[in-house]
Formats: sequence, structure tokens, C-alpha cells
Amino acid sequence: MKFITVDTYEELSKIASEIIGEQVKAKPECVLGLATGSSPLGTYKNLVTACEAGELDFSGVTSVNLDEYVGLDGTNDQSYRYFMNTNLFTKINISLDKTHVPNGCADDLKAECARYDELIESLGGIDLQLLGIGLDGHIGFNEPDEVFIKETHQVSLDPSTIEANARFFASKDDVPTSAVTMGIGAIMQAKKVLLIANGAGKKEIMQKAFYGPITPLVPASVLQLHPDLTVIYAEK
Ligand code: GLP
Repeated sequence: MKFITVDTYEELSKIASEIIGEQVKAKPECVLGLATGSSPLGTYKNLVTACEAGELDFSGVTSVNLDEYVGLDGTNDQSYRYFMNTNLFTKINISLDKTHVPNGCADDLKAECARYDELIESLGGIDLQLLGIGLDGHIGFNEPDEVFIKETHQVSLDPSTIEANARFFASKDDVPTSAVTMGIGAIMQAKKVLLIANGAGKKEIMQKAFYGPITPLVPASVLQLHPDLTVIYAEK
């Protein structure tokens, strides 16, 4: 594991966007696993700037996102599809039909989860997976559990996650109570993993996840077993 500690969110975003940029340059047809949340916003901003400057070309890239809320469709401004379209996809030269986000409004969510895993497999897996981390150690929406769940699955959100994510909604009652998330299997099979975290509030969970025991009660801790993991943490 490469654990990089930086002072500022700007430095974090610079390094993260450089790592993603290098991936796109090295393999223009790569598969990027992408994340939502506030942590990747600076990284995405830098990627947009680099694309506008002609330094990065996303025309060959395919993306697969980690997760989506159940019941929110892509036109809902709280959906992760909307987040990705607004903050990245419509601002770079990726073709929208090569961007994938689980469909949280599918009639048959079990079938949707299976479809998502088949899709990832048909793409040959993920070259670089970007991750944030939840305050309870979740990655994507893989919440603390008795076991690591390998497959894409539907998950009931932890009350602490609903609480934490309420800041993006008009009220806590508006936060969906469940989500579809890529499982630990596809994340661990990604060739490279890049996890970014920001702020003193994440210090405790970062310590548990990367220097504590590997346990499904802290889902991110499984990443200690990944052969090509970079973690960037901005402490302030
Ligand atoms: C959400 C997402 C996660 C993300 C987490 C942390 O719950 N499903 O993928 O990592 O939030 O968010 P933030 O980066 O805003 O702290």
C-alpha cells in the first residue's frame, strides 16, 4: 500500500487527477471505476480542466460507477447518475453511452445487480477504481456487515450513512434508505485502487481501515489485501 498524506484538499485532488490522467494516457481504452461523494469533486474538476486543455482524451474510456440510490432516476438531482453527468461526464469528451451507473429504478433489482456484474466482466474488469470512504468505513455503499459481499447487491443504508448523506438532501427523510452497490469482488479485482479521503473527521476511520484488523465490520479494511492500492489523505 502506498499511503500519501498531504496537507490540503487541493494537493489531494492534484495527485488523484494525475494518477487517473496517467491511467488514461497509458491505456486510452481503459475502464475507470468512479465514485461520488464530495471527496472526488476536486479530482473531477482537474480532469475537466485537463480535458479542456487538450491534455487528456476520454473518447476511448468506459466508466462504471460504484453505486446508486434505490428509487432515484437519473433526472433526480440527488441521484448519482445526475451527479456524474453534471460534475464530469458532460464536461469531458467521454461518450455518455460508455458511462455506466447501476439503475436504482429497475423493476427487478436482483436482475439489475446481476446485469451490472456481467457488464463489468464483459468489459474485462476495472483498470483503475477510484474510491471515497464513509465515516463507518463503507466503500461504494458496502456497509459494515458480518461478511464481505462480493457481488453487486442491494443494501439497506446504515442510519449513520443516512445521517451523513442528509447534507445533500432537503431533509433526512428524503435520503433513500437503500442503494445498489458494486460488491467487494469487482473492487478487489480492479487492477489499481485509488482511495481518497479528506478532513480531520475521517482520521479515525482511516486509521481503523488501513492500520487496523481486516474485518467486514470496516469494509475498506479489505483493501489492505489489494496488490496495487494508493491512499491519499488530506488531514485538514
Ligand atoms: C457516499 C458514497 C461513497 C462515498 C461516501 C463518502 O456514501 N456512496 O461512495 O465514498 O459517500 O462521501 P464523502 O466523499 O462526501 O465523504
